[in-house]
Amino acid sequence: MKNKNNVFSRRHLLGLEGFTGREITHILDTARSFREVIERPIKKVPTLTGITVVNCFFEASTRTRISFELAEKRLSADPVNFSSSGSSVSKGETLRDTVRNIEAMKIDMVVIRHASPGVPLFLTKVLDAAIINAGDGSHEHPTQGLLDIYSMREKVGDLKGKKVCLIGDIKHGRVPLSNIYGLQALGAEVGVCGPPTLMPRFIDDVGVKVFTRIDEALEYADILNVLRIQLERQKGGLFPTLREYHDQYGITMARLERYKKDWVIMHPGPINRGVEIETAVADGDYSIILDQVTNGVAIRMAVLYLLSGREID
Ligand code: CP
Repeated sequence: MKNKNNVFSRRHLLGLEGFTGREITHILDTARSFREVIERPIKKVPTLTGITVVNCFFEASTRTRISFELAEKRLSADPVNFSSSGSSVSKGETLRDTVRNIEAMKIDMVVIRHASPGVPLFLTKVLDAAIINAGDGSHEHPTQGLLDIYSMREKVGDLKGKKVCLIGDIKHGRVPLSNIYGLQALGAEVGVCGPPTLMPRFIDDVGVKVFTRIDEALEYADILNVLRIQLERQKGGLFPTLREYHDQYGITMARLERYKKDWVIMHPGPINRGVEIETAVADGDYSIILDQVTNGVAIRMAVLYLLSGREID
């Protein structure tokens, strides 16, 4: 199925770990041509006609689910949406049986979001379809990493030597690792900042600077990717109160304006306004949060296209 001009050596997209700068640049450059397509009055190309993609969401999602479905429609693929609620999963059907039954209906690609790290890898062992990880627990969310990096590159150009800091819950999110691997592959320097209770044990092994004081992070970086505080984990006592979190780590205009920097402020969403980021920052001039969402469709078009092996006419 691979065409000589669509030279992408990967069969699946499970994460950005191990990707080279060249591979990431190829995806970003491909996305740039699709970014132009989604600005047209007729936002559709015939590239993936006849390809069926199943979007399997075992966890809640707004942006990623809609973005993949739109990307598939813009490429003229046939999307089918599966969500675990209301499915035979509630009758005890296993994940393996569920996905093998879906594949028996002759599908080509599976986009999977699941709470358990490793589920996309597991699917590569039981299915012939191409697998795209749309977020697996606290592991990776590669298309989010790619759209974040695309948005940074669009704003500041070449990322080599640029300093980016991820702020907040580094331990439970799936966005940090994909950002770290992707940015490092492009030569960026990466920091992380948050309470020690929200830092994973392996953080010293991934080549990032670790800050526990927000002022050190703001001194270090020009690009801040602010992460969602997962309110569902607040019961676990990982930090005293949301108000205290906001006081210590919240990104506010007052904090940013202590530095003479042309900030780039990002957030993968969904946002807790007034907790990790204040509204004046989220909706202000430094923010590129909605650009990230728009760019996400182009990134997902690029990933679907590259994994398909099809050619652009
Ligand atoms: N950024 C992100 O993954 O958002 P959703 O959970 O809404 O898909």
